[in-house]
Amino acid sequence: MTDFGLRQWLEQAVEAYGADLPLRGLSRAQVDAWARAAAPPASGPSAALSAGAPSATPGAARPAPSTPPPRAPTARPAPPASAARRPAERRPAAPAAAAKAAQDAARSLAELRDQLTDCRRCKLCEKRTQVVFGEGDANAAVMFIGEAPGRQEDRQGRPFVGPAGQLLDRIIEGGMGLGREDVYIANVNKCRPPENRDPQPDEVAACLPFLRQQVALLQPRVIVALGRVAAHNLLGTTQSMSRLRGRDLEYEGIPVVATWHPAYLLRTPAAKADTWQDVKRVNRMLGKPEDPRSDQG
Ligand code: URA
Ligand code: URA
Repeated sequence: MTDFGLRQWLEQAVEAYGADLPLRGLSRAQVDAWARAAAPPASGPSAALSAGAPSATPGAARPAPSTPPPRAPTARPAPPASAARRPAERRPAAPAAAAKAAQDAARSLAELRDQLTDCRRCKLCEKRTQVVFGEGDANAAVMFIGEAPGRQEDRQGRPFVGPAGQLLDRIIEGGMGLGREDVYIANVNKCRPPENRDPQPDEVAACLPFLRQQVALLQPRVIVALGRVAAHNLLGTTQSMSRLRGRDLEYEGIPVVATWHPAYLLRTPAAKADTWQDVKRVNRMLGKPEDPRSDQG
């Protein structure tokens, strides 16, 4: 594990056991499962360094840190809450600073991806072909978050490249006037669950810290949660998608739009009208015309 990765892991462990911060919304059992799954192997440099880290043993006494836990490093400072509501397609940073921030984020994302190459933190590693980390523009204003790779994604190592992904491409292009290279696309779980079953709580708990890091590095202006698994795990709620859609939600100060999963839209084409409304909301949040086709000037 790189120093960078180890520091992140330790900080997350401290946060998890100090303030429940990175695992907000998870049950105690899920947090314990995460700690068990995410614990580095008990040998090598990480074991030495984690000796002083909070115990990951379920039921172990939980140390109360006297100082607030350090925040995970982010390439860019998180925007103030008011900035998240101000419509602006581009971040109001000087171009050189923005380019530097994007480079830093891209480098940190690459390091995070390296940490997962041979990941065995949960049992999904047994049947997967490869880890599907996520891809896109490190400076993207919009981040799409799905559930977990399917068959095609597992084969190709890229998110949303199967039938649901082709529909997502059309939503991004037709609804937002963007290409998939302009946004960032990731999943809650980075490995394909057998037969595309829902990821189980211990599997989500093992993988969620990495999604949280992706979001922290990317600092998108809007997150689109695709379907129930993404919305529930990001928001720490169990409310139905029909209740979550259309509401002002947020994750770590970043606005979240919950919409139907594209695989659900393939089975239920009538719901595409809802998705169109949700995409228009995203466009409004970005200060863009609701319908990019009307932006011909
Ligand atoms: N479904 C998802 O949730 N994610 C993918 O990457 C592909 C299909
Ligand atoms: N079930 C899901 O998991 N997602 C949806 O969007 C709809 C139903």
